[in-house]
Amino acid sequence: GQNKGETDHSMIEGHMSHDQVVSLNDSTGKNELKIPSLLKSEKDEEGIVYTVRAEKGKTEIFDGVESDTYGYNGSFLGPMLRFEKGETVKIKTVNELDEETTFHWHGLEVAGDVDGGPHDALKPGEEKIIEFKVDQEASTLWFHPHPMGKTAEQVYNGLAGLIYISDNNSERLELPDEYGENDIPLIFQDRTFDEQKQLNYNAAKNEDGTIGDTLLVNGTLNPKLTVNKEKVRLRLLNGSNARNFTFKLNTGNSFVQIATDGGFLNEPVTLNEITLTPSERAEIIIDFSKIQTDDDLALINEEESVLLPFEVSNKSASTSKTPVEMNDFSLTEEEQDLPVTKTIELFGMMDMVTINGKKFDPKRIDFTQQQGVTEVWEIYNKPDMMGGMIHPFHIHGTQFKILSRDGAEPPENERGWKDSISIKPDERVKIAIQFKHKGVYMFHCHILEHEDNGMMGQVKIE
Ligand code: C2O
Ligand code: CU
Ligand code: CU
Repeated sequence: GQNKGETDHSMIEGHMSHDQVVSLNDSTGKNELKIPSLLKSEKDEEGIVYTVRAEKGKTEIFDGVESDTYGYNGSFLGPMLRFEKGETVKIKTVNELDEETTFHWHGLEVAGDVDGGPHDALKPGEEKIIEFKVDQEASTLWFHPHPMGKTAEQVYNGLAGLIYISDNNSERLELPDEYGENDIPLIFQDRTFDEQKQLNYNAAKNEDGTIGDTLLVNGTLNPKLTVNKEKVRLRLLNGSNARNFTFKLNTGNSFVQIATDGGFLNEPVTLNEITLTPSERAEIIIDFSKIQTDDDLALINEEESVLLPFEVSNKSASTSKTPVEMNDFSLTEEEQDLPVTKTIELFGMMDMVTINGKKFDPKRIDFTQQQGVTEVWEIYNKPDMMGGMIHPFHIHGTQFKILSRDGAEPPENERGWKDSISIKPDERVKIAIQFKHKGVYMFHCHILEHEDNGMMGQVKIE
């Protein structure tokens, strides 16, 4: 903060300043990365295609020790669901936990009653069948629980899984698409384990966002990834409760980003690093046939901590391309000329977080909007006396377009569909947003403790 010498705010009891975040241990690369299994679709007489169960289990994260964890259709994290644009999906969701949960489909454009927000809690033992048509373009989405006040803890304990959507365009593009071979899902999460190697959420909890010293990628401790000398597509998800990641290669080599949260960029964008705040995704391609190094090669975080060492085999193989034209995303003049009709002010820290001065109230509708009508929302991150912090802002049930950041065009790699955006202190972001379906949808900070602490509101689409 400013005013050095007056108060050392990091000393305020219980407050861990986010500029002095706990650092992450380096991955030793001891374990080959786990790849989430693909959930098989199997249509029964009722037309149920998938069953997704939230369950408790024990997982050997550390050699020879069982940790108590949560998972979907397994003890930790979840399987990968693969949908095709245009298909109708029927999912039986089952709560086998000892507590309430919901099944939220983050980034999916579905009706409010399918979205799985805090109003849709299933009690222990309950199940619910949901049905929706997949009506959006190829992208990498995810799913996680959303019960009132308990989202952070349930995600922390292991409830999170991935969704891939494919369409004609993604099939046409000849991108690397061999799942687990050259098309790799990567869920980055930081955790703290106690002496018994347990995820003791209440002990680890920080009201301003729980940050851990231990990195798990797809639930793998000390992961490494073995790749061939070819183009490899990494689908990055920041699945942490609160930690931001800035991904780069330790060699300084560049890579290309091909997709944002909700679809392909128009063309690949060359980057040396990319920052993802909680819940943001990006697809990147690293060409391992082009990187010559005698040293170890790894994906690292900004402070040089090793996230994912690569072992490059001598096999060169695939013929995948990085296409030049991938999408036809655009900001129309009409969208750019629309007046701001909704303003959102994010403010506060710890358990004092608010949106437009209010905390979440499940009985209050904060905004209404017409189905299928584009509006412009302006989101402002109001700094506090200590400067404030980044809030990753997310809206349910839709993908939106960033019109501007502080009046300027968004960076090239944000000119694509987004459902979550990082907003810096004192930054003002305008987005063009419409909803395809009706219902009540949440918008909130995706620092999960902020969400649980009430940094959330509701928009009703009629
Ligand atoms: Cu990942 Cu309310 O969402
Ligand atoms: Cu969501
Ligand atoms: Cu926040």
